[in-house]
Amino acid sequence: MRVVPPQRNRGRCSVAADRAGRGVSARIRASAIRARKGRRFATITAYDAAFGRLAEAAGIDVLLVGDSLGNVVLGYESTMAVTLADMERHTAAVARGTTRAHVIADLPFMSYEPSDADAVRSAGRLAQAGASSVKLEGGAARATRIAAIVAADIPVVGHIGVQPQTAALGDGFKRRDDRDRLLADARAIVEAGAFALVLEMVAPELAAEITAAVAIPTIGIGSGPHCDAQIIVIYDLLGLSASAPPFVRPYAQLGEAATAALRAYNDDVTSGAYP
Ligand code: KIV
Repeated sequence: MRVVPPQRNRGRCSVAADRAGRGVSARIRASAIRARKGRRFATITAYDAAFGRLAEAAGIDVLLVGDSLGNVVLGYESTMAVTLADMERHTAAVARGTTRAHVIADLPFMSYEPSDADAVRSAGRLAQAGASSVKLEGGAARATRIAAIVAADIPVVGHIGVQPQTAALGDGFKRRDDRDRLLADARAIVEAGAFALVLEMVAPELAAEITAAVAIPTIGIGSGPHCDAQIIVIYDLLGLSASAPPFVRPYAQLGEAATAALRAYNDDVTSGAYP
């Protein structure tokens, strides 16, 4: 009998198990995240197996395979160019690198807007790739999409405030403070069955009001300290991005460390010191 080394076995099982519908219970479920309402918790983006594993090892058990993948990994100027195939590939990678974390995957631009049926089909592809749930951008106008995906038994996270997929076509990346509209959007998303709600660049007092008004956890990014949870793009947090939004507190400067290491290697090879 061939013995599979434990590390490889673990990675392979997490995908095989997800695709076959076995072993999914090992992952934190949407209902458990919903039950964290009122308790502070950290979430982070991840785009590959390596960073998924590192985040999970650090105790962060809610990971988002964000379509910010387009900006920070694929080199696009916006998230608009990210495809469903991109999201499937990177979602599967994060699922392979983790065993317990809840993996939220972003539905990319135009994978859910055309119809409820498109939204369910696209969400299904991400779930088959290993997503524990999906996230989509938009408020009340997207409520039927959320309800349709939830009716197909795939948990959904909403996302209001700045919506990066279409920001360049509308109001850009300025902070949102339209109280009545954002409160109505948040309530419509909860009503449609979402289990959590991202608030991106929402004025902090309004984010606090929305957080108090809804029964599901809010996950803030650039929306102040009063959300239930926080999310940051992992490349920004680790100092790997060319530029990060002003609200980000960098917890490391890995970009500088990587450049210094690569410079030393380059110098050593050209001088003959390595190998
Ligand atoms: O794509 C992403 O990284 C996101 C977060 C900014 C919430 O949607």
